[in-house]
Amino acid sequence: MTTSAPEIHRGLAGVVVDTTEISTVIPETNSLTYRGYPVQDLAARRSFEEVAYLLWYGELPDEGQFRDFRARERALRPLDRTALELLTRLPETCHPMDVLRTAVSFFGAEDPTEDDGTLAANRAKSLTLLAKLPTVVAADQRRRRGLAPIPPDPSLGYAENFFHMCFGSVPDPDVVRCFEISLTLYAEHSFNASTFTARVVTSTLSDLYSAVTAAIGALKGPLHGGANEAVMSMLLEIGDPQRAEAWLDEALAAKRKIMGFGHRVYKHGDSRVPIMQDALDRLVARAADPEVTRLATLHAALRHAMINRKGIHPNLDYPAGLAYHLMGFDIPAFTPIFVMSRITGWTAHITEQLAHNSLIRPLACYAGQERRAVPAAS
Ligand code: ACO
Repeated sequence: MTTSAPEIHRGLAGVVVDTTEISTVIPETNSLTYRGYPVQDLAARRSFEEVAYLLWYGELPDEGQFRDFRARERALRPLDRTALELLTRLPETCHPMDVLRTAVSFFGAEDPTEDDGTLAANRAKSLTLLAKLPTVVAADQRRRRGLAPIPPDPSLGYAENFFHMCFGSVPDPDVVRCFEISLTLYAEHSFNASTFTARVVTSTLSDLYSAVTAAIGALKGPLHGGANEAVMSMLLEIGDPQRAEAWLDEALAAKRKIMGFGHRVYKHGDSRVPIMQDALDRLVARAADPEVTRLATLHAALRHAMINRKGIHPNLDYPAGLAYHLMGFDIPAFTPIFVMSRITGWTAHITEQLAHNSLIRPLACYAGQERRAVPAAS
């Protein structure tokens, strides 16, 4: 009896593996909703903390719920002495994503409830990570600049506090708002590579910290979250807006991937880009600086050239990369900032996976050597 060759879905492209109630990406209309709400409306009308609550609990908080949620998040922000010491012991040559991955692993190791996978315990851990990750990212950026960490300020919102911990001051509300919009847009995106990684780990009934540690590893790669850093490095490499087209032609001829362009799901533009691009345009306009204008001109020139040459549109990392640079963050901190936001989506998916768990274990089609005898050892 002959069996037909199985259909291969390399990269799981087009494969639907489960249902989710958290978000929906509709490529046909370039739209994205979180728990049914269009992401552009959430970005325009709600704070990032409210979006986190929505992703975890399924509804936007009322006033009392939000007051309580905010107070708990603010109280959890400080790092203990051991965690701060751990950060200073990691070599500065390592990428900040390695620092974040190590920190999450450490938080798990020191949590006596690490293996408690109940909904209540996982919600508490999710909030702890949401609160502490910015403290780690800010302390690590300062360490690399030869500066001491600045403790969190519980009187400040999530986005404002991050600026305070990085720079010792909070910029004007337009800049904070632009940052907050980026956090909302990065928060959740269905079964992307890092979220799926978190779900795979969770499906073995491993703990939340292990799932998040693995997700950080998946996000680090330049085909995923690492692209926001690669975008900025690429813009600095090109330098001159006049060079954008020639540089692109050479890069495409050399079969280079142009960072910040293309998407596995969206083929006609990423639903998040227009909102982030608007926010970026506002940052550029308020800077009124020739250097900033040059970078923005280059950014626009490369976008036009890429759409003209390849018909490939920018993804969220393209405007977010330049926006983070203009806000003053160091390039290696860009993907860790993505983690500070995506921790909300990852942990929402971890609890959803556990609620209807089935071990994730696909099949492979063997394409190796025919069965053969092991030769005798000489
Ligand atoms: N630069 C150059 N060519 C590209 C790009 C790009 N950024 N993206 C797609 N293409 C080309 C491919 O080379 C391929 O061409 P071919 O058919 O001639 O071989 C074709 O478009 C199809 O591309 P695939 O790689 O098959 O598309 P896939 O869905 O697998 O990849 C991905 C999506 C990985 C995001 C890809 O577009 C890419 O590498 N982009 C650059 C990295 C990036 O920006 N990642 C961020 C993703 S979004 C996020 O994480 C927030």
